[in-house]
Amino acid sequence: MKDVLLAIESSCDETAAAVIDRNRNILSNVVATQTELHEPFGGVVPEIASRAHLERLVPVVDRALRESGAELGDLSAIVVATEPGLVGSLLVGLSAAKALSLALDVPLVTINHVEAHLYACGLETGREPFPAIGLVVSGGHTNLYDCRSPVEFELLGSTIDDAAGEAFDKVAQILELGFPGGPVIEAAARNGDPRAFAFPRSMLNDPRPLLSFSGLKTAVLYTVRGTPGSSAEVPPLTDQRRADIAASFQAAVVDVLVRKCEQALRQGNRQRLLVGGGVAANGVFRSALADLSARSGCEVLISPKEYCTDNAAMGALGWARLERGLFAGLDADVVPGLVRKKSTE
Ligand code: KG4
Ligand code: ZN
Repeated sequence: MKDVLLAIESSCDETAAAVIDRNRNILSNVVATQTELHEPFGGVVPEIASRAHLERLVPVVDRALRESGAELGDLSAIVVATEPGLVGSLLVGLSAAKALSLALDVPLVTINHVEAHLYACGLETGREPFPAIGLVVSGGHTNLYDCRSPVEFELLGSTIDDAAGEAFDKVAQILELGFPGGPVIEAAARNGDPRAFAFPRSMLNDPRPLLSFSGLKTAVLYTVRGTPGSSAEVPPLTDQRRADIAASFQAAVVDVLVRKCEQALRQGNRQRLLVGGGVAANGVFRSALADLSARSGCEVLISPKEYCTDNAAMGALGWARLERGLFAGLDADVVPGLVRKKSTE
């Protein structure tokens, strides 16, 4: 009999399941993305997302079990992300997790998806990377945390407008590059000059752990389409101009994220930084974080690339909660929009 848990993730537009053993080894990690369904709309359409989860969840769980070699009877617990996310999408995952927990008579463990992004940073090291400052940069969140333990995350601050990933997605739309924005902007930026445009870096002089990306997005919009009320002619959007704008935009986001992390490390007096979420897959950001580590002497653990965008392997966090007896009941509910200040609250 194996001692493994099944983790389910359905908070946004990825249907995912993973089987993970007690030593946090990922025995299988299956992710069904819905990119092709949402692409025509340039963003995630909640109703389409929840319907797609409904169709895909059972096959994805089946495949995760098969690939891990585990059977339903081997499961010690069912872990599911219940917050934050799209309400319909979260409900599909939670309902399936409750059904499995009830049918197999094993504990149900609920996790916070954003905290799981941070837990993913320790998956390659084989040890739990706490205490630390944590930055989650995804399509829906740009949050800084003080991470005291796997079950104590205190939200320090976040973006006051757009999330960093959202800015990548919107700028990709402005540049007519496709969806999701992060990977296509990163690719276009390879042929561009990051110093071609001096885009704004907001809130850098603000001592609070707050970030802002909407001014940057608007600056890109005006560069591409012209400033409203101005009669100045806008140059055509050639491939080179597009690449230069992409590279300059990416440089601005990376600058802001790195400097806000440095500030949080200093203020929190922490020597370790965790960075997770979809934007952490960005190569320029990853090398800027490596420079930060070299410069500051802080340990920087970035989520392994395959666990940056949404996945269920980061549900390994469920083991940490399970080991502390933090189970959920069958009356557990989803918490779509809110981020708990502390996971123990
Ligand atoms: O964590 P994630 O998969 O979903 C949420 O929880 O939101 O993050 C998705 C976001 C998208 O906005 C996408 O554009 C961004 O992560 N992203 C990237 C890269 N890959 C994905 N941003 C910058 N560079 C990338 N390589
Ligand atoms: Zn995410």
